[in-house]
Amino acid sequence: MPAWNQRLTKSLHQTRNQPESRYFQLATIDRDGVPENRTVVFRHLDDADYSLIIVSDTRSGKWTSLSHQPLASICWYFSKTREQYRFTVCGTCLTRDNDPALINKHWSKLSDAGRKQYFWGRPASVRQNDAPLRVNQDMSQPPEHFCVMKFKIQAVDYLSLQGNPQYREKHWQDKDGNWITQPVIP
Ligand SMILES: Cc1cc2nc3c(=O)[nH]c(=O)nc-3n(C[C@H](O)[C@H](O)[C@H](O)COP(=O)(O)O)c2cc1C
Repeated sequence: MPAWNQRLTKSLHQTRNQPESRYFQLATIDRDGVPENRTVVFRHLDDADYSLIIVSDTRSGKWTSLSHQPLASICWYFSKTREQYRFTVCGTCLTRDNDPALINKHWSKLSDAGRKQYFWGRPASVRQNDAPLRVNQDMSQPPEHFCVMKFKIQAVDYLSLQGNPQYREKHWQDKDGNWITQPVIP
């Protein structure tokens, strides 16, 4: 297991009772080259290919941006342990057309309130007459715009504010795919 993964596993364990430690910021670049950033919920770390997984909507801005530029950045701060992880990632979007098993797995884990959001209108479209969120249809199956986004980790920049002095290290893969760790000046 790469050193950064050991650290992240420990950070997740130490903050397991803090729901806010499951939120990170995902930054992408839009079609005009403008950076955009938003908070999302961490769902899973896939150890098979070292990807961070979130759920989202194919009609959202981040989907459009990732289709244009899959390279993205994730910033995750654990306030309890005072650690920051910055991941350089490459995003892939999966839908029920190309990975129905993964889509169903993540849909089944959502609460009713979480599922309902996906039956409202198109994200960022004008809200007519305070359009309420009313769902009368069957929510057992995900709508076609429900998607899973996988962010394959390419490099990690870790910073710990726990000690004095602070501690920072960089992680990347060599040409054979082995993870290298290098402590650097914070
Ligand atoms: C705490 C929190 C958690 C969120 N989690 C998600 C999420 O897991 N997936 C998602 O698509 N949007 C999530 N959002 C909403 C996004 O931040 C964002 O507003 C929305 O996805 C539209 O972003 P976009 O237009 O850049 O695609 C969350 C917002 C907050 C404040």
